Amino acid sequence: MRTSRRRSRLLGAAAAVLILSPLAVALPAAADPAQPDGVDCDAVAWMDESASAEDRAKALVDASTQHQIYRWLAEQPANAPQQTDFDGVAYPAQVPCTPEVVYTDGPDGVRFTEGVTAFPAPISLASTWNTDLAYEKGQMQAQESFDSGKNGVLGPGLASGRTPLSGRTPEYFGEDPVLTGQFTAASVDGLHEGDPRKPVLSDLKHYIANEQELDRETSSSNIEERAFHEIYALPFEIALADSEPSSVMCSYNQIGGVYGCENALLNEHLKGELDYDGYVVSDFGAVHSTAEALMNGLDQELNRPIHFTPEKLDAALAAGEVTQDRITSAATRVIAAYIRSGVFDTPLSETPSVATSAENKAVAREIAEQGSVLLKNDGMLPLDLAEGQSIAVFGPAAAVQSTEGVSASSVCSMAWAFGGGNTLTCEDLVAPLEALEAAAEDVGASVVYNPGTDLEAAADVAQSADVAIVFGHQRMGEFSDLDDLSLQDGGDALISAVAAVNDSTVVVLNTGSAVEMPWLDSVRGVFAGWLGGEQFGPAITALLTGEANPSGKLPMTFPRSLEDVPTQTEEQYPGVVDEAGIRQVDYSEGLEVGYRWYESQGIEPLFGFGYGLSYSEFEYSKVRVTPRRSNGEREMSVRFRLTNTSDVAGTEVAQVYVTLPDSSGEPSKRLIAFKRLELGAGEHQNVSVRLSAKDLATLRALQYWDEDVEGWVTPSGEFTVEVGGSIDADHSAEFVVR
Ligand code: BGC
Repeated sequence: MRTSRRRSRLLGAAAAVLILSPLAVALPAAADPAQPDGVDCDAVAWMDESASAEDRAKALVDASTQHQIYRWLAEQPANAPQQTDFDGVAYPAQVPCTPEVVYTDGPDGVRFTEGVTAFPAPISLASTWNTDLAYEKGQMQAQESFDSGKNGVLGPGLASGRTPLSGRTPEYFGEDPVLTGQFTAASVDGLHEGDPRKPVLSDLKHYIANEQELDRETSSSNIEERAFHEIYALPFEIALADSEPSSVMCSYNQIGGVYGCENALLNEHLKGELDYDGYVVSDFGAVHSTAEALMNGLDQELNRPIHFTPEKLDAALAAGEVTQDRITSAATRVIAAYIRSGVFDTPLSETPSVATSAENKAVAREIAEQGSVLLKNDGMLPLDLAEGQSIAVFGPAAAVQSTEGVSASSVCSMAWAFGGGNTLTCEDLVAPLEALEAAAEDVGASVVYNPGTDLEAAADVAQSADVAIVFGHQRMGEFSDLDDLSLQDGGDALISAVAAVNDSTVVVLNTGSAVEMPWLDSVRGVFAGWLGGEQFGPAITALLTGEANPSGKLPMTFPRSLEDVPTQTEEQYPGVVDEAGIRQVDYSEGLEVGYRWYESQGIEPLFGFGYGLSYSEFEYSKVRVTPRRSNGEREMSVRFRLTNTSDVAGTEVAQVYVTLPDSSGEPSKRLIAFKRLELGAGEHQNVSVRLSAKDLATLRALQYWDEDVEGWVTPSGEFTVEVGGSIDADHSAEFVVR
């Protein structure tokens, strides 16, 4: 159902001044635990826990000098209240009874810290389609941050999956706004709703249209207004409706020619339309001005003060370029968010402790298990391990597991062959090879390992083995995009060489994004295990051997080839550098991002959105939709029967998609709801998914952004609901909205 795109307004207009910001690794602000002696914190108004966060923040601002107020406007002076010099930028000490705060990345877990859990990357978490796990991980991440002396978590991360080449794809939740919005909200809730004695700040990053790493600081994302709202802003809108992140981080890139951290979108969209009442913090070095940034809605500069120094703020105020109201509002937003999160009332412990635990590791393993997606099974899986059997294992990722990506997406890092990364190791990491060896030993089978660097030697080993398991990898993360969708370090050639001599070859992928699979027909099974964290070894072994039954589903489309992706032209990706040195990236695919593109263009992907196999088999039937109104709100129940037709108990992620009436101009169906359902062998369940327009994600899935009215509109006419185990769901029912 392809419809012609209307001429659309582009967001933003004004040209921005280009200032290149050097990027290094953000260091936590220097800590100084001391509060001035002799102050009774119970007696100061901003520590009155019975007052609202806003009143407490106001009381604090009222008790502050102008330069004490300025301290809240940059990370280091805000977070180290008694320190007075920041690389030559001087402040008075902060008013007493204000907390020390230490920021830390990020999406995966607590960064650059010994003794924490290396959770699987968020793309793996999203593949579980289990928001309870996102919530649990959030709670554990908060606890681990706090226990290791950090109480400001710069995460979760979210984006819209515009191109699978984007370096930070593993840090985000895939390509669907509803799935991403819900995983983001669950992560934020988890961060704030864990142990109240261990409070942390949370941060949604990066706002907005931060869809590539290539020239991320000197590129402009040029988006039509409708796609902006439906694709790029919607995950933020859902997350903000369903959770209360302390801050939102504005991104490096420009949007419509204006840098993210001085873009009118901050006031007009984020704080206006979305009614966000927390604070906006910049990405590291993403601020380019004082007055423009502050007046357009930036509240706090990350790291040390460069543009929000007392000197520059005083000058801007004297020149009438900024207002006192805006300065006060920025400080109040920061303070109120700190108070709401609990960091004012529960100080960091002076003696950080080991943060990880068996319980946290069990959740890391659960995510790796539920988040690994079985993409192909030609009857060979689960492996039937037996006495005397020989199993050949290939690839460096098997032996020294690639737990994570680069930079903000890393916690501990592997000391494996690819260089880069940090130097910490995951003490409790069990590589897949080790876990497979243990499983083989239990039944008297044997494992032989070959790194796969010499293809002939690998083929020799493969030839004499009963089963070959090849681990392919793609290491990716911050700072650069992928060049292509092939496996790194010769992984594709290794798989082909092994499969050519062993017709019982299974592939395990440790990647952060989609990959092409030129060898797919020659192998018997494929798992997408992502960057699966420290417990990936035991998790994938359990899945390969059938001790666990796969239930993961793809949160992003895997195209057959890079040529098929939505960004077809150079103007779309990577963009074209203009005379001013800005890479203009034209989001002309509009709404056709992710599966919406493949659906509308009729391009068959290698594996579609939502796809994933199980050792069980599921059948959908009797789909019915009953729309109704309850207290004036639109509601509907989607009912269907799910039958496990196999003799293995398993879990299916049932997905509900909705197609809007043609008049909406939507390119394809879209995800509206999903549910994980556990079914015993041969069991069936009559499932009812109740959807209410009171829930923002549901409401928006039934609407489109109308540029003429500049708002969301529910079209009238016939809607089709489809239910199934992937985007290819074909059990449908209709309902009409009048
Ligand atoms: C990243 C952010 C991160 C910040 C601080 C930047 O390079 O883009 O995601 O929070 O560094 O480490």
